[in-house]
Amino acid sequence: MSNYSEYQGIMRKIADIQYASAVLNWDQETYMPPKGATFRAQQLATLAGIGHELATSKELGDLLNALSADIALTEKEKRNIKQSLKNYNDNKKYSTEFVKELSKTISETFQAWQKAKAENNFELYAPFLEKLLKLKREECKLLGTFSHPYDALLNQYEPGAKTADLEILFSDVRNQLVTFVKQIAAKTQNKDHFMFLDYDKQKQWQFGLDLLKQMGYDFDAGRQDASSHPFTTNFSAQDVRVTTRINENDLNEMIWSCIHEGGHALYEQGLPPEEYGLPSGEYISLGIHESQSRLWENNVGRSLSYWKANFKMLQQTFSENLGSITFEDFYKAMNIVKPSLIRTSADELTYHFHVLIRFEIEKALIEGTIEVKDLPSYWNKKYKEYLGIDVPNDTKGVLQDIHWSHGSFGYFPTYSLGSFYAAQFFAQAKKEISGLEIEIEKGNMKPLLDWLREKVHRFGKYYSAEELCIEITGEKLNFKYFMDYATTKYKKLYNMDSN
Ligand code: CO
Repeated sequence: MSNYSEYQGIMRKIADIQYASAVLNWDQETYMPPKGATFRAQQLATLAGIGHELATSKELGDLLNALSADIALTEKEKRNIKQSLKNYNDNKKYSTEFVKELSKTISETFQAWQKAKAENNFELYAPFLEKLLKLKREECKLLGTFSHPYDALLNQYEPGAKTADLEILFSDVRNQLVTFVKQIAAKTQNKDHFMFLDYDKQKQWQFGLDLLKQMGYDFDAGRQDASSHPFTTNFSAQDVRVTTRINENDLNEMIWSCIHEGGHALYEQGLPPEEYGLPSGEYISLGIHESQSRLWENNVGRSLSYWKANFKMLQQTFSENLGSITFEDFYKAMNIVKPSLIRTSADELTYHFHVLIRFEIEKALIEGTIEVKDLPSYWNKKYKEYLGIDVPNDTKGVLQDIHWSHGSFGYFPTYSLGSFYAAQFFAQAKKEISGLEIEIEKGNMKPLLDWLREKVHRFGKYYSAEELCIEITGEKLNFKYFMDYATTKYKKLYNMDSN
């Protein structure tokens, strides 16, 4: 057996273990009865241990080092080896002691966060978060030298991302988008009260399935179930599952979770199955993953053409609530811009202010320029500054997100990166696919899906995020595309064309 096929064999074994864990996790979030929790945690810990052993074994290290000098490999094979060697070396930087300490601190912090959020008591959470933050700062150091310590954390989710680049990007958000949203706020506001009437659960469920089908989601390679937080998970490219959350008094939740998770799932279903377990069979980064969900959710799902295709069916399904609503009013309701407290239910423009605030706070925490005890007041000040709203309590403020309690610092920026990549990719798709919007109006999503398969999905991790963006659009990520998309669309929606 050649070294390369030996490497493939080990990588696939590691993937088998990771995906088996993913099945157990999926089950935990969907069907597991409450008493199953204790042994489930043990099963997951055992599998994680086996996976870590394989991923850091001397055998794999020796193979990777030998293969990285092998000039006979194809370009794709070389890139796989380079990627795997980097992961291997990164894994090796963690001592077993550190990993244990981190995982213990994370479970304690997560529990403290749950309690603190339920009781609106930040004090309960602060000492744990402080301890966790100390470990994250240590982690930055052990991962090596970066031009900014926060880069080390960012790179875990968005390989190659730099704090310095994000500072420029978010200063564009501050200077351009914040100003634009203030102009929108001065206009007459559109209405969406009809989205919050009684909507039958079963009918919503069926409608969500129809939307997924229309997008091209393959139900022979996936399924949809209900969970309290919508997510997508995959066990291979041929088994990619989505979940949704249905709220009988808010039609938005089903619509946006189905389209968003559907976008994530199409990416995973489009990865090459023959590259299973290898970097060339995996997604590039969280930012690129999110670009796929946001492209479908916002650029497609909140567009005029998309509702030209789907409004009639929705109206017929819920005629008691939507029978007298005009298409124009419905489209406006899908695109209401209004500063709000909670990130996950924010509109597609003010969403980025929520991320901007978290980015500024995380950076300051890692640099050590603010302390955990100052978080609530700092948070509230920023919400006043960027969103113009008063935060009534910490549960709806600094305690709202799960991320920090999991030690996920550097994750939030990938949400905004996703939207900005999406806008740039979609602008290119419109140039390359003739009559794209007319096809969408007809409910024909195939030309767009084919384009995404061809341009993004089939490559796996062959390109970095930056390389992929240049390959597709001829330039690096450029915030201009998002701003153009936002101003063109919302100036019409809010009658701002006169100036
Ligand atoms: Co997402």
